[in-house]
Amino acid sequence: MTPWCRSRRWLRVAGGAVIAITLTAGSVAGDAEPVGPDLTDKLRGLLVKEMVEIEVAMQETYSAIVQGRHDEVARRGQAIHDSFILEQSLTPQDRRDLKGAVPAEFLELDARLHRLAASLAEAGRERNTPRQVDLFGRMTDSCVACHSRYVTDRFGGLEAPSLPERPEDGTP
Ligand code: HEC
Repeated sequence: MTPWCRSRRWLRVAGGAVIAITLTAGSVAGDAEPVGPDLTDKLRGLLVKEMVEIEVAMQETYSAIVQGRHDEVARRGQAIHDSFILEQSLTPQDRRDLKGAVPAEFLELDARLHRLAASLAEAGRERNTPRQVDLFGRMTDSCVACHSRYVTDRFGGLEAPSLPERPEDGTP
């Protein structure tokens, strides 16, 4: 193989790498767009309703944790888990609309919150206060992570933060 040939090959490889990096950066930037405006009215309505319920449940959970009302922690954690919009009142068409309108990472963040909520319910049943406190913090991380990526049209104050990734669950 001649040096000329080698250098052409090198260029192709380097060029490929540049394209790959550009595509990756592009898709990350492209993903972090507000999702609300892309949803159907029905989906947006369901999501907002879920969010309002989750926020109330989080506030109630906080009070229950700091007062050692474990049954209440378990009940609220379960309620947050069950509010998963993908698992309630969506027709197959709604499901397709949702998947088409939001990036996979959004769905993963939603799923993560709901998994954490299931762990919180478990920590309530275990009467394990340290684990409840830990999981509550991780759940708050997940609210901020999603809002700072996908709801910046409404929550402009969250444009900057990028939270350090914490491993998901505080299970022993
Ligand atoms: C997977 C993404 C995601 C996660 C996780 C998430 N949210 Fe949201 N949230 C949204 C989106 C999207 C909106 C904006 C909906 C719209 O306006 O279209 C929103 C809006 C809200 C609102 C405003 C609702 C209104 O009155 O319009 C509240 C309150 C809220 N979220 C609370 C929370 C809390 C508390 C958590 C964590 C326990 C959380 N959210 C986690 C995506 C998320």
